[in-house]
Amino acid sequence: MNDKLLVAKTLAAVLDGALSESEITKLLETPKKSEMGDIAFPAFTLAKSLRKAPNLIASDLAEKISSDAFEKVVATGPYVNFFLDKSNTVATVLTTILKDGAAYGTQPQNGENIAIDMSSPNIAKPFSIGHLRSTVIGDSLAKIYQKIGYNPVKINHLGDWGKQFGMLIVAYKKYGSEAAIRENPIAELLKLYVRINKEAKVDPTIDVAARDWFLKLENGDDEALTLWQWFRDESLVEFDRIYTELGVEFDSMNGEAFYNDKMDEIVDILAEKDLLTESNGATVVELEGFEIPALIKKSDGATLYITRDLAAALYRKRTYKFEKALYVVGNEQSGHFKQLKAVLKKMGYDWADDIFHVPFGLVTKDGKKLSTREGNVILLEPTLKEAVKRAQTQIDAKNPDLANKTAVAHAVGVGAIKFYDLKNERLNGYDFNLEEMVSFEGETGPYVQYAHARIQSILRKADFSPEKADLSALSLLDDESWEIIKLLQAFDATVARAARTFEPSVIAKYSINLAQAFNKYYAHTRILDENDEKNARLALAYATGVVLKESLRLLGVDAPEEM
Ligand code: ARG
Repeated sequence: MNDKLLVAKTLAAVLDGALSESEITKLLETPKKSEMGDIAFPAFTLAKSLRKAPNLIASDLAEKISSDAFEKVVATGPYVNFFLDKSNTVATVLTTILKDGAAYGTQPQNGENIAIDMSSPNIAKPFSIGHLRSTVIGDSLAKIYQKIGYNPVKINHLGDWGKQFGMLIVAYKKYGSEAAIRENPIAELLKLYVRINKEAKVDPTIDVAARDWFLKLENGDDEALTLWQWFRDESLVEFDRIYTELGVEFDSMNGEAFYNDKMDEIVDILAEKDLLTESNGATVVELEGFEIPALIKKSDGATLYITRDLAAALYRKRTYKFEKALYVVGNEQSGHFKQLKAVLKKMGYDWADDIFHVPFGLVTKDGKKLSTREGNVILLEPTLKEAVKRAQTQIDAKNPDLANKTAVAHAVGVGAIKFYDLKNERLNGYDFNLEEMVSFEGETGPYVQYAHARIQSILRKADFSPEKADLSALSLLDDESWEIIKLLQAFDATVARAARTFEPSVIAKYSINLAQAFNKYYAHTRILDENDEKNARLALAYATGVVLKESLRLLGVDAPEEM
């Protein structure tokens, strides 16, 4: 039983119905200092209804409670403080982790699907840090939800449609070189795109031509489609390289273009429900409480981003019957997702309430906004390479004889970037500082990985195996062990909170706390000393290793056995 539940049940039994178990659970607090016990009940919440002084209520309650499940129960001022029976908790936590291994905290399958729209870069443009954030946060949320019993469906809603392809075709036909694009696809396509946009500012015919080409594309013109397909294929080769580096896979690569033949239905439903109005020749849905209506079709009949998203939402609901659908997309698009949900609601789809925009903040570099024009850019592939190189340098210095150094450096370098991204609450942006990310000190991925590797090295030295572990002489009553035990015990509640709030940072912070608690223990205790407690100490180290590795896995970060 979970400890809060135990306390709530115990209190309910002596409160004679003054409060229900669930009311009590909500009131329970965790004392700031461990001298004050493990769980506290604020008795002053009962002062009014019982017409008694809070301190008196607290001391009466403490007196009435007699339970073997607690080491002691004492009144301190208006609080009833519960001290858990440590040896009981130690035994339960450690035997469970030894038995379950990586499955510790995994909830049974609930048969529900969760659709996760993630990564979704734009064809013919560089893969930005925003898309990296979406990829890494989305991938972690998929793992977290899987852990609590869901079946995640990871969808890469590629930006592979829109007027920009009209622009690109115009540019290619004017100055493009097939060979140059084959050589260096995204860089070349980006050059064309930048050049044509500059030109469009002074030459209005370019915009007209681009619109024509996009309409041709929407109408299935052969030449337009062939060029589009080529740009798309070339871009995907580059994106796939990045996904391989990151170790991220998708269940669906259906981008915006996939919905081309699915938008008529949306327009039909909107018309049927009488939701469409004309505005300056365009077709829109008026939305109460919004400054601008949702633009469904332009005056020339071209469809828009939101039209494709409406079709995508309906398609996903039908195909995956999702219980929840997440969209991991930058905060700057929150207006778009509010509109999307509002239109779906107007269409009569109550499941619009199961759609969640999971926004995240901006990354800066040297405290400044990223801007291609001002040269403040982070190019992803070279940055990943540099992170691995820096990891390699540190490993060479720390552990020159390490086997498979290259693989470890990759896990550390790439893991460092992911971890740094995920440890920040997602709505807070952060400054991209590779040096800090890859450091073995501080609240970093390498720090947590190193704690895990240290544990494995201790276990190897002791030739420990969980099957052979003898827990008969458990004690571990020192403060440092107790800190670890309490964290291990809180693992499933932590995963649940990360899922509920769509916040991988909850897991990242937890893993830092656990690594720090272990390092403190390690500094105080000679784990390998021969005495009665050695087995229990090894079991504690083992359990910590299991949970550290599992926490990192939920963040998409590997945990090398040695480093
Ligand atoms: N391609 C878009 C961008 O880079 C993100 C797409 C997000 N997903 C969606 N269903 N709208 O801004």
